Amino acid sequence: MLVLAVETSCDETAAAVVRDGRSVLSSVVSSQVAIHAEYGGVVPEIASRRHLELITPVIRQALAEADVPLEQIEGVAVTRGPGLLGALLVGVSVAKSLALARGIPLVGLHHIEGHLLAGFLEQPVAFPFLALVVSGGHTHLYRVEGVGRYRTLGRTIDDAVGEAFDKAGTLLGLAYPAGARIDALAGKGDPAAVRFPRPLMHDGSLNFSFSGLKTAVLTHLQRHPLSTDGGELSDLCASFQAAACEVLVKKTEAALMQEGLERLVVAGGVACNSGLRAAMQIMAQRRGMTVQFPSPVLCGDNAAMLAVAGDAYLTAGCHDGFGMDAVATWQLDQAAQGKVLP
Ligand code: KG4
Ligand code: ZN
Repeated sequence: MLVLAVETSCDETAAAVVRDGRSVLSSVVSSQVAIHAEYGGVVPEIASRRHLELITPVIRQALAEADVPLEQIEGVAVTRGPGLLGALLVGVSVAKSLALARGIPLVGLHHIEGHLLAGFLEQPVAFPFLALVVSGGHTHLYRVEGVGRYRTLGRTIDDAVGEAFDKAGTLLGLAYPAGARIDALAGKGDPAAVRFPRPLMHDGSLNFSFSGLKTAVLTHLQRHPLSTDGGELSDLCASFQAAACEVLVKKTEAALMQEGLERLVVAGGVACNSGLRAAMQIMAQRRGMTVQFPSPVLCGDNAAMLAVAGDAYLTAGCHDGFGMDAVATWQLDQAAQGKVLP
């Protein structure tokens, strides 16, 4: 099946053409990062307007790069939620229009369903597995039994880890979003330079908390302002990253043990982090487990990742009606409600 996938949940306007939920014929991502950077975060109203301007050229480009005319598309998959409502509405409306005009089925997906199955475009993982989804809006541990069969095991009780990277970055004078920059600077710094807290690490739950870690960076900077030559910046980045990664790895390990799972998938924008990748690999090796990190291009927001679940639902004869709405908040455990499971 040739699926056109559309993603507009936050600040990336994306479209992709994917065959059989496996072969990516094209994946176009137009990022608004530069536009929102001057505000230090995503401005919802600006994001929606930019999606409106970009969605048609981005879809056109995806079809052209795949060398597939719209007439050959057999189904449309779109992010229905969660995300910024005004942003989601653009993608959902366009996806509906295309499906209606072409008389082809439409399926609305949970954004995280896309992230946690993105790596299947490179190498499918046998079910069941544990998924750690780490992004600007999520820090969640899920047990994944199959497409549409997800159970939340733990989640952040305040900030997402990507949000903590971005906010710490702002405190350190780095441009938004700062995750990748902190990662690069951390490589040159000493992770033991400052002992930042490891929130909730030993509370016995599978939940996370990152707002205290961000505050610890602020408190440290108030006591020890950065010198003008920025000499300590790399050490602070390395120390912050080490604290965040240690908690992520410890909780993931605990979840693997609790659930008796042997396969792990780490997905979402923060899965690009080199410190997290290295620490998770070491833990997995020690435990004799396998860990999948999708390639960086599949970790950040993109539309191709939606086609994995999208194709599975559509080929199982499951599609949404044209009354489908966009949803700003939506639990992944409920993502398949009303759907026929593949
Ligand atoms: O998945 P994503 O592209 O969008 C959301 O759904 O949120 O994730 C974006 C987040 C941002 O917070 C960004 O700073 C973070 O991923 N990020 C990183 C790295 N690359 C992106 N965080 C840490 N290290 C990185 N290398
Ligand atoms: Zn995302």
